[in-house]
Amino acid sequence: MDALQQKKLSAQAAMKYVVDGSVVGVGTGSTVNEFIPLLGQRKHDIEGAVASSEASAALLKQHGIRVLELNNTGDLPLYVDGADECDPHFRLIKGGGAALTREKIIAAASKKFVCLIDHSKRVDLLGSFPLPIEVIPMARSFVARQIAARGGHPAWRQGVVTDNGNAIIDVHGLRILHPEEMERDLNQIPGVVTVGLFALRRADVVIAAGEVLTRV
Ligand code: 5RP
Repeated sequence: MDALQQKKLSAQAAMKYVVDGSVVGVGTGSTVNEFIPLLGQRKHDIEGAVASSEASAALLKQHGIRVLELNNTGDLPLYVDGADECDPHFRLIKGGGAALTREKIIAAASKKFVCLIDHSKRVDLLGSFPLPIEVIPMARSFVARQIAARGGHPAWRQGVVTDNGNAIIDVHGLRILHPEEMERDLNQIPGVVTVGLFALRRADVVIAAGEVLTRV
């Protein structure tokens, strides 16, 4: 089964977590793009959605779903998003689509984080996928040097500006043995807005190709 088919199956399986009358947190990426049209079929049952990117907000509106601001909703019962890598403990690398900051905020504000993947995203050890970090533009070189001093190989994702007006650095060559520790460490570098490690707030449920996985 190809990756797109697997993403579609995961998106379908996520629908059972959507509660009538609620506001749904919606992430960003090609997997979530399979979920949004299904959510659109239930647009009259839900109050609306909070989007993690301008792109997802546009797609939600296209499907007739009311887009709400997190500032006006309070915490959410459910956040549905994809990932670039997922380990057996449901710790993730995210940010391939440069939406990591709003994704991390909505994940933190949500009671349940349901992560949709295809099997190619499953790894034993995080780090083969370059770790995205959102940085304040004037701190880009400084943060890159800090990353290099820690043994990572930073690459500026040229031409990409996040929805928050920031830059993205992708860190290659990491073997992330202690994700929570690394997330805390990188978070405190001045100029770092968000690290694409979702270990301190990991997924609660992971669905791979429609199958609900068991956390180790
Ligand atoms: C965007 C993300 C996405 O969830 C991640 O990149 C996975 O994307 P896709 O569903 O297209 O494989 O973190 O910032």
